[in-house]
Amino acid sequence: MEKIQIAVLGLGTVGSGVKNILQEKKELLKERIFQKTGLEREIEIKKILIRDINKVYDVDKELLTEDFEDILNDDDIKIVVELIGGNQPATDYMIKAMKANKNVITANKLVIAKSNGLLEKVAKENDVRFMYEASVAGTVPVIKVINDSLVGNSISKISGIVNGTTNYILSKMTNENKSFEEALKSAQDLGFAESDPSSDIDGDDSLYKIAILSKLAFSTEIDLEKISKQGIRHITKTDIENAKNSNKRIKFLAQAEKKEGKVVISVSPVEIDSKHPLANVEGAMNAVCISCDNAGEIMLQGAGAGSRPTASAVVSDIFSVASKL
Ligand code: NDP
Ligand code: HSE
Repeated sequence: MEKIQIAVLGLGTVGSGVKNILQEKKELLKERIFQKTGLEREIEIKKILIRDINKVYDVDKELLTEDFEDILNDDDIKIVVELIGGNQPATDYMIKAMKANKNVITANKLVIAKSNGLLEKVAKENDVRFMYEASVAGTVPVIKVINDSLVGNSISKISGIVNGTTNYILSKMTNENKSFEEALKSAQDLGFAESDPSSDIDGDDSLYKIAILSKLAFSTEIDLEKISKQGIRHITKTDIENAKNSNKRIKFLAQAEKKEGKVVISVSPVEIDSKHPLANVEGAMNAVCISCDNAGEIMLQGAGAGSRPTASAVVSDIFSVASKL
């Protein structure tokens, strides 16, 4: 049995979800790789990068390291899964891993959106794969749909709820009359929110995600500074009630539309009709509507955040790379 050895950077919400799924689904993944390739292969975590070796983790201590060089210098490790988040050292680690001939998988939308194609370029130069399905809409396979399923289409518009925390907050305010602060605290406790939740609430997280989708769908560089963005901090219970009274819902939408050759992107709370498909997407769910010429309208929906849903998308990328090595 050939072992495909991987390293996971960060054992937080998503990292521990990946570790758990890989352990629990080891046999299933082995079978699926065999079905797909005819090869006897299993995926094995060889090392996990953590920050504090004295912290208690629910994992074999032998796997843990505080030193990224241990991973970089291990030629048996073919895939590095970056789940520490933030800009640095995540970017450096991913670039170093690619230069050491390792394939890289990440859920880090900030780095992908801000690095202006640098990671894709380094991956090409080093002939390794770079995958990031979990970076947009958690478990929803929107990147695969844009890259593969809709390849015979010109996409004209993408509109969606791509942040679980803010959708959770707005849902709690709408359906349970919770205050903004109560709802945010609960999203943080459930592991949906970013370590700095202002990225969710003020719209940066949605902006990174719509920028990633726009770049893939419209094959154009996106200047994050030029995107119109408004968060949800100012939304009051009265705004929510007023919307409900006129059969509307306030939803935090990220939208990108190709108009007269230009891509117009926005991130803002929008009042939509209560019968609109996006109006009934509740909690930490995400949904993305894609309009295109041949396939027409497509709506994808699923858990946009949280340990296992996000880890499920990461594992799908690991499987994809492990099947093709
Ligand atoms: P967490 O904060 O839960 O986990 C990050 C982990 O990385 C922590 O355990 C932290 O250690 C560790 N870490 C941070 N810096 C370092 C470092 N320099 N070296 C070693 N370990 C480090 O974040 P999440 O798991 O929620 O998010 C991870 C990534 O996934 C982010 O990019 C996020 O945007 C993305 N993501 C998250 C989703 C979610 O629902 N949570 C959904 C989709 C994407 P310590 O515990 O010591 O601080
Ligand atoms: N903080 C993000 C959210 C995590 O709430 O959607 C998933 O990307």
